[in-house]
Amino acid sequence: MRIARTIAELSEMRREAILELLMDRPGRPIIGLVPTMGALHAGHASLMQRMNDECQVRIASIFVNPLQFGTGEDLDTYPRPIEADLDLCRSFDLDVVFVPGAAEIYPPAFATSVSVPTLAGMLEGAVRPGHFDGVATVVTKLLALAAPERAYFGEKDYQQLCIVRRLTADLGLHTSIVACPTVREADGLALSSRNAYLTPHQRGVAVRLHACLSAMAEEFARGQHDTQLLISHGASLLRGWEEDDFELDYLVVADPHTLAVRDTARRGDRVLIGAKLGTTRLIDNVELTS
Ligand code: PAF
Repeated sequence: MRIARTIAELSEMRREAILELLMDRPGRPIIGLVPTMGALHAGHASLMQRMNDECQVRIASIFVNPLQFGTGEDLDTYPRPIEADLDLCRSFDLDVVFVPGAAEIYPPAFATSVSVPTLAGMLEGAVRPGHFDGVATVVTKLLALAAPERAYFGEKDYQQLCIVRRLTADLGLHTSIVACPTVREADGLALSSRNAYLTPHQRGVAVRLHACLSAMAEEFARGQHDTQLLISHGASLLRGWEEDDFELDYLVVADPHTLAVRDTARRGDRVLIGAKLGTTRLIDNVELTS
C-alpha cells in the first residue's frame, strides 16, 4: 500500500497501480474511492470491503476537511488516530491512501465553492450552516483528483449522500456513487467517529434514536401512513430526555431523493433524525419499507 501526501504523488501512484495491474491482467480496471475523515470504524471497513469486491484499483482518502466544520464545532478535537487508520487500510490491501494536508487541498489561491442549495440548507444544513457546501466542495475535488469509476458513501450520512448524488449528476462527473448500508452496534446505535465523545450514560441515551426510528418504521409497516401520527409516535419515545441535555433538531419523513417532507408517507421514503446530546451531534435515518 502506498501513501500519497500530495496531489502529485496521488496522481503518480494511481497511474502506477493501474499500470501494474495492466501488466498482470489486461483490460480496463475499475478504480474505486472511499473518501473519509479518518477515525475509521467498522462502517468505513464495510465501504472498503465493498470497494475491494468491486474494484481493481482501490484508493481511500483520509482528510479532516476544515471547510465542513462551523465556528465552535469540533475541528480541533476531531479524532485523528492516523496510525490505526493506516493499519485498517493496510488490512484491506488498498493500493493508495491519500493523506493530504489542508494546504494541499486548499492552497492559498483556492477560491471555489460547490453548493447544492436545494438540499444543503434543510435538516442538518439548517443546524450547521455551510456544512454541506464544505462537503460538496471537498468531495468534488477528491472525485476530480482520484477520478474513480465508483465512490463509496455510507447511508448513515443520508443528506450528504443525496447531495453527492445530485452534484455528480448535475456536473456530469464520471463516477457512480455507491450507497452502503449503515453499520450498527448490536443494540442499534449507528457507528460514527463522534460516538467516541459519548459518556457511558450518553451512549445509553443515544441508542434510543434508533429505537425511535425503528418504532416509526414498524408503525408504517402496520399501515400508518400519516406522517404527523408517525412522528408523534416516534417523538413520544424521546420525551423526558431534556434532562440528559438532549435536544431534538428534526424528525421528518422525507422523499428519498429531494428530502422534501411528506404529509403521507410512501414506501421507500426516509425517516431522518438529527439531535444534539451535550455537545455531540447525533444523526440517523431509516428507510420505510413495505
Ligand atoms: O462522510 C465523511 O466522512 C465526510 O463528510 C467526507 C465525505 C469524507 C467529506 O469530507
